[in-house]
Amino acid sequence: REVHKHDFLVQETPVKRLCKAHNIITVNGMFPGPTLEVNDGDTLVVRVVNRARYNVTIHWHGVRQMRTGWADGPEFITQCPIRPGGSYTYRFTIQGQQGTLWWHAHSSWLRATVYGALIIHPKKDAPYPFTKPQREVPILLGEWWDANPIDVINAATRTGAAPNTSDALTINSQPGDLFKCSSKDTTVIPVRAGETNLFRFINAALNTEIFVAIAGHTMTVVGADASYTKPFKTTVLMLGPGQTTDVLVTADQPPARYYIAGRAFSSAPGVPFDNTTTTAILQYKSTCCSGQPGSQPILPTLPAFNDTNSATTFANGIKSPSAVKIPSPVDENLVFTVGLGLLNCPPGRTCGGPNGTIFAASMNNVSFVLPSTISLLQAHQMGTSNIFSADFPANPPVQFDYTGTNISRSLWQPVKDTKLYKLKYGSVVQIVLQGTSIFAAESHPIHLHGYDFYILATGSGNFNSGTDTAKFNLVDPPLRNTVNVPASGWAVIRFVADNPGVWLLHCHLDVHITWGLAMAFLVEDGVGELETLEAPPLDLPPC
Ligand code: C2O
Repeated sequence: REVHKHDFLVQETPVKRLCKAHNIITVNGMFPGPTLEVNDGDTLVVRVVNRARYNVTIHWHGVRQMRTGWADGPEFITQCPIRPGGSYTYRFTIQGQQGTLWWHAHSSWLRATVYGALIIHPKKDAPYPFTKPQREVPILLGEWWDANPIDVINAATRTGAAPNTSDALTINSQPGDLFKCSSKDTTVIPVRAGETNLFRFINAALNTEIFVAIAGHTMTVVGADASYTKPFKTTVLMLGPGQTTDVLVTADQPPARYYIAGRAFSSAPGVPFDNTTTTAILQYKSTCCSGQPGSQPILPTLPAFNDTNSATTFANGIKSPSAVKIPSPVDENLVFTVGLGLLNCPPGRTCGGPNGTIFAASMNNVSFVLPSTISLLQAHQMGTSNIFSADFPANPPVQFDYTGTNISRSLWQPVKDTKLYKLKYGSVVQIVLQGTSIFAAESHPIHLHGYDFYILATGSGNFNSGTDTAKFNLVDPPLRNTVNVPASGWAVIRFVADNPGVWLLHCHLDVHITWGLAMAFLVEDGVGELETLEAPPLDLPPC
């Protein structure tokens, strides 16, 4: 069991993208940020020093953080932000997780440029449950804005309008050959003929679900969100923001250069999501000197941006490697709506949402508001009153056809509030996540902090508790930390509340978090010594 110490210097760094020079916020001047590699069972100690002009926190996306909720990172949930000039040391141990996770800023839209891979190998000398690959490569999908992403979201928030979409998708922070001034910096991934590679895909994009394919090559999926999966072959992957997918790719094609390409998936109607295809090059080593490199690599076939079928087929292919013990019986049977709404413009203001409204988003009609003077975890631990109420509704307040196309806006105008849902230590929790089409039908990558959950089923339309429970996979459902709730559809997840603390559940499209598509669980301490939250670190940033 090793302890890995790292220093993360958050700073402003010059980079050039799409023909222009920019100053962006990075960790240690790197974009993407440093890759951390550990073994299962190891401890990470990461000292974050903030030399930028924004508040910052770092979240270790998908790390269970057993009893170490103080190290989870979302600002005003588990800590106050690290102010410019400040620092904070995150300490946590990886317990029983293997595969690919990642870390990212969890403060405003800083994660647009502040992110990196977190690779968890099996325990020392333990094997993978698949043939050992000859090489391993993290591949981070991202999104690039020509404007400062913080300015983009602040401008949108001022008027209630939708923020501008990004200017490019990226692979390892590079837009690739199809973009102006980007060719010479295109990400190149060298492979050797005959060798098998483990590609660790991470969708770090702010607001875009992404299809991925590699020209000429089949991928074998072996892991997702740091859980192993039953291996299956596919030519296309779909990752929602927050999700990771590990694939084996054998270099079994004629030595040449092949594009790895990513393109947006979105079922939202009328949104220009089809505007960008990012590419990297899979380059066979033997092609380095044979005159081949000049030749144009071929593009793989990617599904159309609105190809829901391809997305669903891929998601349904992901299963646990063997039969699992599903937690039961269910103690907390919850139904949360997830979706957008619109608020009326306050008198005397001009608002930029549809027909002069303000965009909002909610779960069970509560649009989540972060506190600003103390974190929820501190408020809980110190018993500070008037910061939150623990009365988040277990069910939607009104029953109706959530997925219809003609829903009256008056039916669903969210209420802004800071509400938590209390869970007893050890309770078995099931949540039906029901998508709504109040304003628009969109799929939502819903992420739960501090836990992995089983995805028992997904489907379209309104969840029917009478007939849809028969569709539950109670044998080998996938274990993940982020589930794509299909547009105008639903997903059912289940987990055991065995990690005390305050844990955010939210849509991983950052624009939707900004609009309030979030809630938080307050998981109470258990009785045993190993069932209680640890004491807060002494250097927890002051508010
Ligand atoms: Cu990866 Cu709360 O996020």
